[in-house]
Amino acid sequence: MGKVFALIGHPVGHSLSPLMHNDAFLALALPHHYVSFDVKPDDLKEAVSGIKALGIAGFNVTVPHKVSVMRYLDEIEKEAKQIGAVNTVSNRDGKLIGTNTDGRGYLLSLKEKAGENLKEKRVLLIGAGGAARGVAVTLDRSGVGRLDIANRTFERAKMLIETGIHRIPARALTLEEAAERLGDYDVIVNTTSVGMSPNVEDMPLPVEGIRPGTILSDLIYNPLRTKWLLEGERRGGIVMNGVGMFIEQGALAFEEWTGVSPDRERMRKIVVDELTHSGRIRE
Ligand code: ATR
Repeated sequence: MGKVFALIGHPVGHSLSPLMHNDAFLALALPHHYVSFDVKPDDLKEAVSGIKALGIAGFNVTVPHKVSVMRYLDEIEKEAKQIGAVNTVSNRDGKLIGTNTDGRGYLLSLKEKAGENLKEKRVLLIGAGGAARGVAVTLDRSGVGRLDIANRTFERAKMLIETGIHRIPARALTLEEAAERLGDYDVIVNTTSVGMSPNVEDMPLPVEGIRPGTILSDLIYNPLRTKWLLEGERRGGIVMNGVGMFIEQGALAFEEWTGVSPDRERMRKIVVDELTHSGRIRE
């Protein structure tokens, strides 16, 4: 029998997850459905009870509920606990189990560009919010050469390192310090919203000083190419946008729920087509 999967967030109207998951169900001839629900913060508790009562088989969680949903779940897996946020929940015989596929999704997308072995890579993260935390905790668990974090509010970068990074060399930087030493890094990741539509002229850091071949990775996918990526590419950077992470976090959730791997290339195509043709995005 077909199962129902869901997304809860506020707002959720622009999410590409329903399109991506429903197409993947179709491609695998699975009789399931994925629907999104706009849940206001005050209604979160009742929404999660409702999900249980209705027997919804699994759900994704997006802004602003990724942290607050945790108190309503029955179990939370270790990585999600370390990240301090849940983006994927499975309903196993009436028990809601929370996990987080954002960090692992990011890691898989990074390996597509950087290769499997990240052990020697020196990474600079820009930003210290929720998105940065997912990436930082996962890179700490999987291992990179070093992981420095630069943030507008320096104290938050320090705090993220103290609470989220335990295994690898790491240092907090101001944005000004980071701008001075861009040449020290093999991978630079923008986890902030700086450069996202409609503020497409903004850049999280300058690109002067990067070495050719440095990977510039922006979690933003609207626009598909931020000004930071365009300018970085002109300086010899290898660029990647946030589509890869979005696809991989969704594909990992899909696998968790169904036990089957979706066709990631097909997912990517439907997402990029929608982003380019919906008129919501600038190429
Ligand atoms: P998310 O969950 O998407 O990471 P968040 O937790 O609100 O969102 O974090 C946003 C991040 O983007 C923060 O690192 C924030 O810097 P501050 O900690 O100083 O607020 C960063 N950010 C947002 N707007 C910014 C701007 N205009 N310039 C520099 N950094 C910015």
